[in-house]
This record gives sequence, structure tokens and C-alpha cells, in this order.
Amino acid sequence: MNPEGIRTIAVLGGGTMGNGIAHVFARYGYRVILRDIERQFLDRAVENISKNLDREIRKGKLAAAEKAAILSRIDAVTDLDSISRADLAIEAVPERLELKRRVLGEADRVLRPQAILATNTSSISVTALAAATQRPERFIGMHFMNPVPIMPLVEVIRGLQTSDETFEAAMNLCKKLEKKPVAVADSPGFVSNRVLMPFINEAAFCVMEGVATADAVDNVMKLGMNHPMGPLELADFIGLDVCLDIMEVLLEGFGDPKFRPCPLLKKMVAAGWLGKKSGRGFYVYGGK
Ligand SMILES: NC(=O)c1ccc[n+]([C@@H]2O[C@H](COP(=O)([O-])OP(=O)(O)OC[C@H]3O[C@@H](n4cnc5c(N)ncnc54)[C@H](O)[C@@H]3O)[C@@H](O)[C@H]2O)c1
Repeated sequence: MNPEGIRTIAVLGGGTMGNGIAHVFARYGYRVILRDIERQFLDRAVENISKNLDREIRKGKLAAAEKAAILSRIDAVTDLDSISRADLAIEAVPERLELKRRVLGEADRVLRPQAILATNTSSISVTALAAATQRPERFIGMHFMNPVPIMPLVEVIRGLQTSDETFEAAMNLCKKLEKKPVAVADSPGFVSNRVLMPFINEAAFCVMEGVATADAVDNVMKLGMNHPMGPLELADFIGLDVCLDIMEVLLEGFGDPKFRPCPLLKKMVAAGWLGKKSGRGFYVYGGK
């Protein structure tokens, strides 16, 4: 698919990443079909997009008059058939192999043969996900970062069978969104999470072993290494369950014990302390 021919984007899943991806495409003039399984999730997604657009307006990055036009470019749907109009679909459902394989297989059956199918997976093999479709040469990883409207990076990951044309289309598409695409190979955690997650995991070990409190660990990295957020604050923001899942993918993928998840992280996830979204992680949020 010629990148110039890509006009309509389907986003599968309207959660944290899906609504951010829909926001960015609509803001840059693309028509977006945002699909989730329940109307309430779509309502929440559109509400988030609206709030995030308001923030851009307050910061002077977007003209107030543009907001209505951006929102009008997003169709929020629950039925699968509506995505058949898309030139490119990006899957952003939870990080579970079987769920992703099912969602991708369904999308593959509905999309036109020339459409590109992309996944926003953080760590699962793009090649393995491509195998759930009949279009492995038109399948690619486009790993956006959270929050999508703000973070410039997109890791672009080729599966074993991804064609040069699909790769070029994905790279060009990122540039049209004023993102900075970085091509990386299909390897567990790609680059971003292979480097970031052991860093977060090691910070959790420091807390577990009583080397320092969470606050002290974060201060060391913020004040000493100039990180805008400490690793444990960041872990709470990402979701401790997400961090644990990715550590497990790294451990399984490399078979190297250096990737073993910190027992404290496991215990916190088992207790339902998932970070900001559950009100408690390494920190306590919102008076909960
Ligand atoms: N959260 C992050 O910081 C982050 C960053 C980069 C990549 N990712 C990746 O992005 C993906 C999505 O993560 P998220 O944090 O947005 O998850 P999320 O749980 O916030 O959202 C997932 C959404 O998918 C929907 N969904 C479930 N089944 C569906 C189906 N069959 N069809 C359509 N929608 C369905 C859910 O209802 C939910 O709204 C994951 O692969 C994750 O690893 C997450």
C-alpha cells in the first residue's frame, strides 16, 4: 500500500494506547474507525480524547476551532464489519498472545487484501502475531509510546515476512504524524522494554531488599541521572501488571535469569496493587 493511499485507519481497542493512537491520526487529518467491544469503553475513549485535545488547546498547540473537526473524524464502533473500510488497522488490545491472535485473525478476514495490519504490542513477537493472519507480508509492529499524543518515538518492528513496501509505508506514516520512527528487529521487548523493564525491575529489588524506599530510589535517578520520572513512579504509571507481563516475556524469550521478575513486583500485582490505575502501587493515589 502506497502511504499516500492510506487515509482511513482502524484502531482495535480504545484503552490507554488505542485512544491515544486514534487521537493522533484524527489530529493529522486521517479518518479513524475506533473499535472496542463495549459502548462504555468507546465513550470513555472519546471523552479522554476530548480532554487531551482541550489540554493541547490550553497549551496553545492546537486552535480551539479544530477540536470539533478532529472529533468528527473519529467513528467509534462496536461492530467488526465497520473496519472493512480501513487502509491500515492498528491493534491495541491487552498484551495477551491468544487475545491478540484472535483479534488479528478477525481483522484479517474483514480487511481488504491490500490493507496493512499493524500491532502496538510492547513485547510479543511480531512474527508470531503475523502468523495469525493471511497477510504476513503486510503485517508490522508499530509500537507507540504512552502518552501517544506527546511521545515522539514509534518503534517500527519488521516481522520475518514483512515486505519492504509495508515497512516503508509504516515509517512514512509515522513521519506524517510528526513522530520519530526507529526501526528495530523482532526480538523480545524490542529495544524500549528490553532496556526499560530490567531497570524498573532492579529498582523494585532495591525496595524489596531495603536498600532504599521507593521515593529514595526515584530521587536518586531523577536528581542524579536527570530522569524526568523515577523508575518506580514510571512503573506505577505504566501499570505493575504490564511491567510484570513484559518481564515474563523477556525471561521466557531469552531464557536468561537476569530477566527474572522481582518477587515484590509479583506480590504487588497479586494483591491488586497495579499502580496509578488501581489507586496503589509503589505510591498511593487519589486518596484511595
Ligand atoms: N500502556 C502502555 O504504557 C503501553 C505502551 C506501549 C504499548 N502498549 C501496548 O498496547 C496494547 C494496549 O495496551 P493498553 O495499555 O492500551 O491496554 P488497555 O487495557 O488500556 O486497553 C485495551 C482495550 O482493548 C479493548 N479490547 C479488548 N478486547 C478487544 C477486542 N476483541 N476488540 C477490540 N477491543 C478490545 C479493551 O476493552 C480495552 O479498552 C498492549 O499490547 C500493550 O502492551 C501499552
